[in-house]
Amino acid sequence: MYMSLSAAKPLFWGKIVPSIMPIFGTRPEAIKMAPIVHALHESDEFDCIVTVTGQHREMLDQVNELFGITPDHDLDILQPGQSLSDIMTRTITGLDKLFAIDKPDAVIVQGDTTTSTAGAIAAFYHGIPVVHVEAGLRSGNLYSPFPEEANRKITSQITALHLAPTSTSRANLLAEGVHEKDIVVTGNSVIDALFTTVDKQIPFTDPQLEQLAASGRKILLVTTHRRENQGDAMRGVGRALARIADAEPDLVIVLPAHKNPVVREAVLPALEGKSNVIVTEPLAYGEFTRMLSLAHIVLTDSGGVQEEAPSLGKPVLVMRENTERPEAVVAGTVTLIGTDEEKIVTEVDRLLNDPVHFDTMANAVNPYGDGRASERTVAAIAELLGVGHRIDEFGMTVSV
Ligand code: UD1
Ligand code: UDP
Repeated sequence: MYMSLSAAKPLFWGKIVPSIMPIFGTRPEAIKMAPIVHALHESDEFDCIVTVTGQHREMLDQVNELFGITPDHDLDILQPGQSLSDIMTRTITGLDKLFAIDKPDAVIVQGDTTTSTAGAIAAFYHGIPVVHVEAGLRSGNLYSPFPEEANRKITSQITALHLAPTSTSRANLLAEGVHEKDIVVTGNSVIDALFTTVDKQIPFTDPQLEQLAASGRKILLVTTHRRENQGDAMRGVGRALARIADAEPDLVIVLPAHKNPVVREAVLPALEGKSNVIVTEPLAYGEFTRMLSLAHIVLTDSGGVQEEAPSLGKPVLVMRENTERPEAVVAGTVTLIGTDEEKIVTEVDRLLNDPVHFDTMANAVNPYGDGRASERTVAAIAELLGVGHRIDEFGMTVSV
């Protein structure tokens, strides 16, 4: 057990509880951390201190607002055009100062962003145990996704408790020499977040989207942002979308554009003036999941969207050459198509015009979670800190 009594805080009447600090900074981390933060706040076993780095700003605040999370600390590091080194150094420096004053008994980091790896390194330097949520994902290529594959591997080296979403990610960690007692298979908390929002029928802020929902027209939902796709590949994505829009006038392409100006400058020019393309600001999570449930096909390079869409039975074309999320590919709901313009046009056309192919892919599968990841996460952390025990794992039957 890692709890240092000096750091433990009296929170509830007569009870000393360990302090735990979730650290996150981008939209996907915020979405995946939200159910865990809520579960920690609901538990009387911990003092939960939420710290955000502000690697994202609008896209982070949008999620925290939806889930009613008010950070205790905000490092506010975002700079336009920030480099990876900017994010790394500003996060470590900010956390260094914070830990000197307020040292938690453990930190939680999520996934593979630079915030998460910087958070893990800063904690490690202070002797604070690291809990890694969404541990063990591997594409097998250090440069793709860049820098995320390296981030994950670095974080794994200094993690005390590895919370693997699936048995595949657990196997990756075991193969790298992580001890099995330090791994718990939880499912992915993105499914917890999805289950709590998708059925709420949250109204769209943009009236065009509400009209589209009422029209019943077929929707191709597109998101793109990956660093390794920026530049030529992303310009090709823009051209492919323009060709699809021209060839399929009954289809509506919905593209909530990432805030990164580099992404917008590459993708959007080819789409100007297309009446069946709707480009929006990033949608609030509740609106996005509703749009996901309305979509006919999803075209994306996002990690989180790859995990959510399969549970809604949506065919997903992933604009990447590889994936660290093979489970839905194996299940047949996700196809990797890369970023070649011709290939994108062909694969969307095939899904639109070959009903047998569409039906084969449009299967609802849940390889990534059952909605109980945050419960398992909190139990595993309680065990790490000596105030509880882990519970049954995702996809495994454990006799008690
Ligand atoms: C980051 C993560 C990536 C994750 C993605 C989720 C790293 C290295 N990358 O990539 O793993 O998949 O978030 O979206 O950690 N910006 C804003 N406002 C925002 C967000 C972004 O203005 O709310 C702009 C800024 O100009 C910023 C740029 O977008 O410089 C890029 O943001 P950054 O976090 O560096 O990279 P992402 O591509 O978003
Ligand atoms: N998302 C959102 N609004 C949008 C687009 C995406 O809330 O306009 C959500 C989506 O449901 C998923 C997450 O953002 O949970 C994915 O974030 P992103 O694609 O930026 O990052 P990645 O998952 O690739 O790291």
